[in-house]
Amino acid sequence: MAIQKDISFSITIYNTLKELQKADEALMNLAVSARKRAYAPYSDFYVGASVLLENGEIIEGNNQENASYPSGLCAERVAVFYAGAKYPGVKIKAIAISAASLNHEVNEPAAPCGNCRQSISEYEFRQGEPIRILLMGETGSIIECNSLADLLPLGFNSTFLN
Ligand code: THU
Repeated sequence: MAIQKDISFSITIYNTLKELQKADEALMNLAVSARKRAYAPYSDFYVGASVLLENGEIIEGNNQENASYPSGLCAERVAVFYAGAKYPGVKIKAIAISAASLNHEVNEPAAPCGNCRQSISEYEFRQGEPIRILLMGETGSIIECNSLADLLPLGFNSTFLN
């Protein structure tokens, strides 16, 4: 007999940056400043990501585009790969992400693409502790997710390879 299973998760929605914990507000402000340094001449869509590590370090990244479009990389992966390269094995506590466009106002939180979810999930699975995700556009509300796994149900991880 087949069973039906519901999968659900909770998020917290903040109306303004001021409602966040001070450290989260600062983390998001770093994502915003990283966003402004993105190299996005093809999409005009600017994304910044800031990664808070367990050792207190914060690593920033932004999207890096390429004339050969698929060769570019999203902000989230630039940031987490840099964090992994600079501080291998150091746990990631939280990632703040902010997106803006030159063509319209991004007034709601932009969520990481599927490839970025998969990449971040590798670190979360490996460290065995959740990574909080904070999402924001250019203006508007901020969404807090308790873990990356919430954003990638039924995800693929290394256990499938063994
Ligand atoms: N982008 C990101 O940096 N993060 C995402 O999660 C979604 C998309 C970038 C990739 C590309 O440079 C531009 O936004 C438009 O897709």
